Amino acid sequence: MKPLLQVRDLRRSFYGVKVLTGVDLDVVDGTITGLIGPNGAGKSTLFNCISGLYMPDSGSVMFDGADVTRARTQDRVAAGLVRTFQLARGFPKLTVFQHFMLYGQNHPGEGLLASLTGSEAGRRHEEQLAEEALAIARRLRLTHVIDNPVTALSGGQKKLVEIGRALMAKPRLILLDEPMAGVNPTLTAEIAEHLKSLNADGVTICLIEHDMKLIGSLCDPVIVMAEGRKLTQGSFAEVVADGRVQEAYLGGRH
Ligand SMILES: Nc1ncnc2c1ncn2[C@@H]1O[C@H](COP(=O)(O)OP(=O)(O)OP(=O)(O)O)[C@@H](O)[C@H]1O
Ligand SMILES: [Mg+2]
Repeated sequence: MKPLLQVRDLRRSFYGVKVLTGVDLDVVDGTITGLIGPNGAGKSTLFNCISGLYMPDSGSVMFDGADVTRARTQDRVAAGLVRTFQLARGFPKLTVFQHFMLYGQNHPGEGLLASLTGSEAGRRHEEQLAEEALAIARRLRLTHVIDNPVTALSGGQKKLVEIGRALMAKPRLILLDEPMAGVNPTLTAEIAEHLKSLNADGVTICLIEHDMKLIGSLCDPVIVMAEGRKLTQGSFAEVVADGRVQEAYLGGRH
């Protein structure tokens, strides 16, 4: 039960408002860990601090035994710590293929200079990235839209592109912020299958999701956040039976 990610006493305020009030949690290697809690509990802010988008005011984030609390985002990505966003972000005019290539290219330490200088090594690097991009598109069943601009895709396909972008970075841990929100039931089930299959291939997953049926079918353990900290953790059955969890949802900002 090795923790791949260890968060200790993480705190962050915005304009004097305490949003993370001392988060302690572990994500164990090989799990699909669920992260739930009422709106405004601080789940996305926690992901922002773990991924390096925001700096915490205090506390620590350890990834694979290394302290990454103050590390640059790209260094975290290089270490295999990758996140997706609640709303798909990126460069709308680019095609799916270009999108994947861009994020593969951004993967630090992988011969960007060589590609820019047009050397033989650079060309090989491009080819290798292109192969990876095609393989990821195949895996996510995006091959038929690979040359379409991301803007032309359905909401669900955009979510898949967001996952594909993360995969280009060869993650060990993916933090997924509501990857199924607003997606139709068929594609939701498809995304769930992709997550299971990635996990079976050794990718650890931490999933924020409001759909309790999905959390119940995918995640073990489930961590519950409320008011900026971890309230409890356990199997799905354990946390839904917990009176404190029910109270947090009733008293939350829903
Ligand atoms: N950059 C920011 N500036 C100011 N306040 C922020 C910022 N980011 C988050 N907050 C505030 O922090 C609180 C927690 O927000 P957060 O988005 O982390 O919640 P969440 O648990 O992800 O909620 P949801 O389930 O609705 O996505 C909210 O009150 C939000 O307004
Ligand atoms: Mg959120």
